[in-house]
Amino acid sequence: MKLLFISVFLLSISSVQAASIYAGKSKAAVVCSQCHGVRTTSAEAPFPPLAGRDKEYLKMALRQYRDKTRLSEIMNNIAGSLTDKDINNIANYYSRQK
Ligand code: HEC
Repeated sequence: MKLLFISVFLLSISSVQAASIYAGKSKAAVVCSQCHGVRTTSAEAPFPPLAGRDKEYLKMALRQYRDKTRLSEIMNNIAGSLTDKDINNIANYYSRQK
């Protein structure tokens, strides 16, 4: 069930990226919040909260996932196609949420 959710979800991510019109906020709302939540910390334990986290930390973590120097099957897939601009936008957005 969980695996099904994740694969359906990854499919929908590719179409989001195809549109490529999303800045940090909408990207976070559409993509990341599914697992991480937006303002509130996510209810589900395996997903670390992002709201209000240090901006530099978020950028570093996303680059590490993208470059696969930090391994997570899920996050490597998701961060794999983020540009530096996406990463900056997303880190800006989440670090400002309380
Ligand atoms: C399908 C679920 C899912 C989605 C969607 C998702 N993540 Fe994650 N994310 C995870 C999981 C699981 C982890 C923990 C991985 C690990 O152990 O390193 C994680 C970890 C992270 C971390 C590291 C947090 C920490 O405390 O070190 C960051 C940053 C992050 N995700 C950002 C994002 C961003 C930004 C997006 C949207 C572009 C996103 N995630 C979308 C599941 C998801």
